[in-house]
Amino acid sequence: MAGRQLLKAWAEAAGCVVRVDAIGNLFARRAGSDDSLPVVMTGSHLDTQPTGGKFDGVYGVLAGFEVIESLNDHKLKTRHPIELCVWCNEEGSRFSMAMMGSAVWSGRFALASAHELTDRAGISVLAELKRAGIATASLGQRQAVKASFEAHIEQGPVLEQKAKTIGVVTGVQHMSRHEVEVVGQEAHAGPTPMDMRRDPIRVLADLLPLLYGAAERHGPSARFTVGFIETLPGSPNTVPGKLRFTVDIRHPDGEQYASLKAEVYALVLETLARHKLKGGIRCFWEAPGVIFDAECVAAVRSAAAKLGFSAMEMVSGAGHDSCNVCEVARTAMVFVPCAGGLSHNEAESATPRDLAAGADVLLQAMLSMAAPLS
Ligand code: GLV
Ligand code: MN
Ligand code: MN
Repeated sequence: MAGRQLLKAWAEAAGCVVRVDAIGNLFARRAGSDDSLPVVMTGSHLDTQPTGGKFDGVYGVLAGFEVIESLNDHKLKTRHPIELCVWCNEEGSRFSMAMMGSAVWSGRFALASAHELTDRAGISVLAELKRAGIATASLGQRQAVKASFEAHIEQGPVLEQKAKTIGVVTGVQHMSRHEVEVVGQEAHAGPTPMDMRRDPIRVLADLLPLLYGAAERHGPSARFTVGFIETLPGSPNTVPGKLRFTVDIRHPDGEQYASLKAEVYALVLETLARHKLKGGIRCFWEAPGVIFDAECVAAVRSAAAKLGFSAMEMVSGAGHDSCNVCEVARTAMVFVPCAGGLSHNEAESATPRDLAAGADVLLQAMLSMAAPLS
């Protein structure tokens, strides 16, 4: 919230008009010389992970703001308005729906359903928007968008390993999140013989090697992550009555992704049946793979070439708000390297040189769409 307030103050001081929509997305608009034209958009997110770094999302917002400040510094007007967006709840780490604000903005997810999402303590998105004082009454009409660009750290090691400064992002891989629940029976850890327990952790112990094996069979591009495990009641001397864990599945190839997902579901159900325990697996979030707009991708490629930066094309392994923006507007992304490919980690880092290069590419790509006045 402090970061949003600071950005809002900076944007207003830079001459932008700032507004917030009903799902908490913030838009800072720099007027065009013909303000009725569709906007050229950029932005990313300011929310983070429990142990997130300071570049994931924040870089894209500040790079977008730097574009606006650079245009101001050079007294450069554009025919199209420029809009900087801060999408609300991109990470979905507390309210478990990634890219929530952009999903509502794009019409892919209903505002009322987003408001009803709750965190693990049962607190709703709407209640928190109200508590933060940023809930506005209506979404309003979605602004027309000529093109949209998002700058982001790569969050993987490829650019660094290949010694390239710019990633020209051509799309985003398929991804989804699932919850597995296993119902056992609470029992005393001392007197209860091992063969008389209904212990959900025995299911987990059997399942994990099977699930990792399935991921391995789907090749080096497959991604499989168990990021959250919870036992209830969560006491050292009680056999848990319930186990819940999450599974994040990703693959750039649609067929491989679908087959890995199906295998994970089958393995969970077979293992539950073998242990004669109740439970199941459900998908609570899915984002199909995305192919970005060829003209916007070309704008990023040309901007990197014009500025003399080494560049390579790549598919994003992480999800981004641009996946939702891409549903309704022409979109592409610009990646810059991050140290050791590390992200979702407080040690996340990137060099000022690479960050400036990414912002320069963003500026040139946006200008190629925004019709600068000479
Ligand atoms: C977003 O951070 C993701 O999970 O890809
Ligand atoms: Mn991000
Ligand atoms: Mn992230």
